[in-house]
Amino acid sequence: MLPTAMRYSHTLLKEVLQPGQTAVDATMGNGFDTELLASLVGPTGQVFAFDIQEQALQATKKRLAEKELLAQVQLIHQGHETLADIVSGPVHAAIFNLGYLPKGDKAIITLPDTTKTALEALLTRLAPKGRIILVCYYGHAGGEAELKEVHSFCQQLPQEAFNVLSYQFINQRNQPPILFCIERKNHQSSAR
Ligand SMILES: C[S@@+](CC[C@H](N)C(=O)[O-])C[C@H]1O[C@@H](n2cnc3c(N)ncnc32)[C@H](O)[C@@H]1O
Repeated sequence: MLPTAMRYSHTLLKEVLQPGQTAVDATMGNGFDTELLASLVGPTGQVFAFDIQEQALQATKKRLAEKELLAQVQLIHQGHETLADIVSGPVHAAIFNLGYLPKGDKAIITLPDTTKTALEALLTRLAPKGRIILVCYYGHAGGEAELKEVHSFCQQLPQEAFNVLSYQFINQRNQPPILFCIERKNHQSSAR
């Protein structure tokens, strides 16, 4: 069966992330993605995980401690728009799950401007063959505007330097999430 956007995001991360590398979870939430990144980079790698809600940091810390994955993760109680001050790079994989925290305050959402600031910072730090994945939930107020921003950001990236994918189910009700994956090419090339 075709994978959901969430499941496919994990496949895309598993394909590229190796032990010892650096990864970013730009929207930690309950820590499901942070856990995957931490297990893939292992004890010799590092994960920078961001969230603006204390609740997210507590949930993620608990999850990582239970799995003995806390050592390789920096839990950062700041917006991902501050990424440039914290992560020097190179970054081999990053993930955003845009929207609000499931079972949390639905008024606290990711926003187009701050998402774009974080994306720009990540792009300059992305290693060759590295991937940035965005899973956009857009059924809530403000979600459509963010989806539009992310889509146009991804679409204008030069094909000489990046492969960009979108993945969505186009016959489903209730605005299923749309996944974008930005992959830095190994070498600049003019090949189609
Ligand atoms: C859809 S949830 C993430 C779910 C998460 N990936 C998981 O595994 O549970 C979106 C999260 O983004 C967080 N968020 C909102 N604005 C943010 C920002 N500027 N920087 C970092 N996180 C932010 C919210 O607090 C929320 O926890």
